[in-house]
Amino acid sequence: MQLHLSSWPEIDKYLETSKAIVIPIGSTEQHGPNGLLGTDALCPEIIARKAGDDSGILIAPTFNVGQAQHHMAFSGTITLRPSTMIAAMLDWAQSLARHGFERLYWFNGHGGNISTINAAFSEIYHGITFSGDGDRAGSNHPPLRCTLRNWWELPGVGDLCRQLFPVGEGSHATPSEVSVTYYGYPDAQKRVEMTPKIAPNGPIYDAEDYRRRFPDGRIGSDPSQASVEAGEKIVNAAAKALIAEFKQFAAS
Ligand code: NI
Repeated sequence: MQLHLSSWPEIDKYLETSKAIVIPIGSTEQHGPNGLLGTDALCPEIIARKAGDDSGILIAPTFNVGQAQHHMAFSGTITLRPSTMIAAMLDWAQSLARHGFERLYWFNGHGGNISTINAAFSEIYHGITFSGDGDRAGSNHPPLRCTLRNWWELPGVGDLCRQLFPVGEGSHATPSEVSVTYYGYPDAQKRVEMTPKIAPNGPIYDAEDYRRRFPDGRIGSDPSQASVEAGEKIVNAAAKALIAEFKQFAAS
């Protein structure tokens, strides 16, 4: 079930059975020569959509622009400032809380978002504690709970990715994430020969330094191995793990 394809009476009905929602969250940033700019938003979106279709859990629209300052030397990348992202996440959370949602499962596709998402959780808890939302003035235990899960860290998913791509998985523009997007959007596949075959590794600083160290955008990976078939396996495993974990969180 997807929020943006539902009507308000359908959301009213859902809220009678559950106060929990999955919010895919990612980034719009370069993903190497054959990866889609939307990769980090599309991966959690594609996995969450399958989980929603298979189980009836509610999926929010994707929060699809995040922390991508270090990718800004590559065309097409869009970034938020951390303060903007925290403010926007607070607005999303307060909107959902207003309707009665109490469990927000933020399903992330971008490592660079993690620290800002956690800072946003502090802002959300602060806002809800001090606004008296839910008529709990005086309580430091607000009814709203947020949790963060990176899709590649769902139980069993990391092992599956390493098994599918024992060499050249790397850490940015990985064959696993590119495979997930190719499964979701097979017409958007790009065949590009990688030079060098496996990209260099190294630290991340600012955008200009990033482009000097990683000229085509990849870090440690060979995403030319990406395939629709591998993507299907990853999406199926991740959707199953997401449903199980989300149901536990919803009942917490
Ligand atoms: Ni990525």
